[in-house]
Formats: sequence, C-alpha cells, structure tokens
Amino acid sequence: MDTYIVEGGEKLYGKVKVQSAKNTVLPLLAGAVLTDEQVKIRGVPTINDAENMLRILNEVGCKIKRQDGNVIIDSSGAVSHEIPQRLTKELRSSVFMLGSVLTRFCRAKISYPGGCDIGLRPIDLHLSGLKRLGVEIVEEGGYIECRADKLVGAEILLDFPSVGATENIILAAVKAEGITVIRNAAKEPEIVDLQNFLNAMGAKVRGAGGGTVVIEGVKRLHGVDYTPIGDRIEGGTFLIACAVCGGEIELCGVPAENISALLHKLRENGCKIHTKNDKIVLRSDGKLKSVDLVETMPFPGFPTDLQAQYAALCCKVKGTTIIVENLFETRYKYAGELKRMGADITVRGRTAVIRGVERLHGARVTASDLRGGASLVVAALAAEGRSEILNLSHIDRGYADFERKLKKLGAKIRRVRI
Ligand code: UD1
Repeated sequence: MDTYIVEGGEKLYGKVKVQSAKNTVLPLLAGAVLTDEQVKIRGVPTINDAENMLRILNEVGCKIKRQDGNVIIDSSGAVSHEIPQRLTKELRSSVFMLGSVLTRFCRAKISYPGGCDIGLRPIDLHLSGLKRLGVEIVEEGGYIECRADKLVGAEILLDFPSVGATENIILAAVKAEGITVIRNAAKEPEIVDLQNFLNAMGAKVRGAGGGTVVIEGVKRLHGVDYTPIGDRIEGGTFLIACAVCGGEIELCGVPAENISALLHKLRENGCKIHTKNDKIVLRSDGKLKSVDLVETMPFPGFPTDLQAQYAALCCKVKGTTIIVENLFETRYKYAGELKRMGADITVRGRTAVIRGVERLHGARVTASDLRGGASLVVAALAAEGRSEILNLSHIDRGYADFERKLKKLGAKIRRVRI
C-alpha cells in the first residue's frame, strides 16, 4: 500500500502548471464515442479516474492509443452498448456513457455508478432529462437500461443545476432530431469546455456557462484534436497549500475567473494575489486570519471540491471559520483525521465549525475520499513534524504527479510502499 511521508513546516516557492481538468477530461472521453473518426485529447492526466474511463471505452470496443501524454480514441469499431458493473463501480463519471452510448446505439445498459463516498449521489436528473429526449428507461437489478427509437430534442428544466446531468443531456442531444434547450443548466467552466469540444467536432451547442444551453441536433460529428482546460481544483489545492504554509507560487493554466470564489476567500485570509491571463501568483506569510463563513455552491460559488482542502487551511488561521457544505451530505469524513493533527473541528450535519489553532502536529492519517485525502496532504505540509498519509488510491483518482509537483515547490514529501 502506498503512503506519503511528509515532513511539514516548509514554505512553498516556485512555478506549478496544472494538469488537464479531471472533470472535463472524463465527459470528453465519453464524447469520443459520438463519432467514428479519431478523437485526440491532449494531456490526459495519469489519474485513476481517466484510466477507468479508458477501460470503459475499451470495453465498448474503442481502440485506445497513448502518445506523449495524449490519448487517441478510435471508436469506429465500437459494438457494445453495455457497461458492466466491475467498471462502473470505480467511477461515477461512467454515467456519462449513458448519453454518448445512447446517441451512438439508441440503447445503453449501465449498472449504477460508483465514485467517492461523499453521500447520496442520485442520478434522477440525468434520467428524467434523457426521458424528455424520448428515452425509455427500465431500472432493474442494479442496472439502468435505456432504449429509444430515436432521440428527439426537447425543453428540459433541471430542478438543480447538476454538472453531470447537464453534460449527460448535452451528450445525448448533440445528434438528436431538432432542438434541445436545457434551462437551469450548470454553469461550470467544464460545461463550456464540453461545448467547445463538441462544436470542434461539428456539433451546434451554445449558451454553456450562462445557465441555458441550446443544442441543435446535427446529423454527424467528425474527429477532433482537442486540448482541455486546466484543472481548477488541482490548482486551487496548490494555492491553498502555499497560503497555509507560506511562500510564493505562480500557478499556470487556470484563469482567475475559474476559481474566483477561492481567490476571494484567500485574499480575505490575508494572501496577496495577482492574476494575469491564465497565471495566478499567490504570496503568503503563513500568518492568516479567518473568514467568517464559507458555503459551497454551484459555480461561480465556492466549489465543493475545494471545501476539504480549504478546511485544512482554516485549522491554522487566527479565528473561527464556519463551513456549510450545500452539495453533498457526508463530505466531512476527513475532519476526524485532521483532529489527529491537533485541529479543532466540530461537525454538525452540513456545518463544520473550525477554530484555528497555533500549530498542527504530524500524525498517521488515512484518506477516505479524493478531496478529503488532498486536505490531509495540505494539513501535513503545514504541520510540525512527520505525517504519514495512507490510502493514496483515493488521491490518485484525481491528482497526477502530486508529490513530484509539491516537491518541486520545496515540500518534503515522498511516496513509499509499505
Ligand atoms: C460533478 C463533479 C464533482 C463535483 C460536483 C459538484 C465531475 C466528474 N464531477 O459531480 O467533482 O463535486 O460536480 O460541483 O464533473 N443531484 C441530484 N440528482 C441528480 C444529479 C445530482 O439530486 O441526478 C444532486 C447531487 O446529489 C448533489 C448536487 O445535485 O447534491 C450536485 O451534483 P452534480 O452537480 O450532479 O455533481 P456531479 O456531476 O456528480
């Protein structure tokens, strides 16, 4: 089992470039089956979630080639509309295959998707959207079976701006007959990237990022050579780490508007931040003050995927921070582990009250989900003494080369097999 050994207390200095965004690469990979022609996606990070998605593509009959960090997918031989449970249980984003496989075969069969254990993660909005496009859905024995004579455009109003449901419906609507309008669509930058990717394949999608997405169905899509946007969550994790440890880093590959909610809080904490194009320079003396309240919200609000890492920072600031997690029910599993490092956190339901302490100390802790795992790394970097972080498979789902990038910034972190 791989473990991180961290000697905390180092300030972080230097430049760090983010990987391609996990949350855009996954729907893009699913989108590759929408065409018979080759799809090249540049800079696919070596993270477990992307590897699992490639396994799923392989299972439906796609040929995958890797070349210098890029992935080339040839779906001309795709034959299967079924995705078995052994693959979907590892990865919630396997659900995107519903939209794209339906477009390809007018049929799809998938077992209920897995992913991080951060609370109930229903897919009712995905399914009701697909029904509106003319899909018949039978749920039986843990499987969802979808069938349609043809997909037909429709007006869809999402009860909540779900990222995944918006993406899945777009993937199902790109070749549907007529026009689909998704209202109350998610506005995340990853939706805009999916729109750009599909339009580069010949689709007619507009409005992404603005809450109403309009998809005019086209007859065929062609191949594409595409570079996804940078990972704002990975980038945000480095910014938070530098903020709490102290130092100065230049983050490359994330435009400030993609993480403005985090930058706003970090400035309030006392960090100096300059932004230009897709570069963010953050300077911190490591002596931060608390902000009163952080509530996670859909974009452009504070991202739930940075809540855990930001909580690690709150443990070591002067004053008390209240965090409210509005997206997922059980996203505080890391709190007990942070307490082992001396943090003062009280969790009640969706709210965490974090009273900043003077110092955190190293401890042996265990990651229990992806972002919670990253939170433990941030805390260990800021703590005095040695920490061991176990169960890295969770962190490996979303961070490629995490320790190498942190080491380059001056962190004392190494990965060992125990
Ligand atoms: C995506 C991201 C994930 C991020 C989340 C919120 C990917 C691969 N994952 O996940 O990292 O944490 O957005 O920003 O992009 N909901 C329903 N019914 C549904 C779908 C969602 O009730 O059919 C609820 C969820 O339980 C949750 C909320 O909507 O409370 C947001 O979920 P959603 O935006 O769909 O998140 P994901 O797409 O799963």
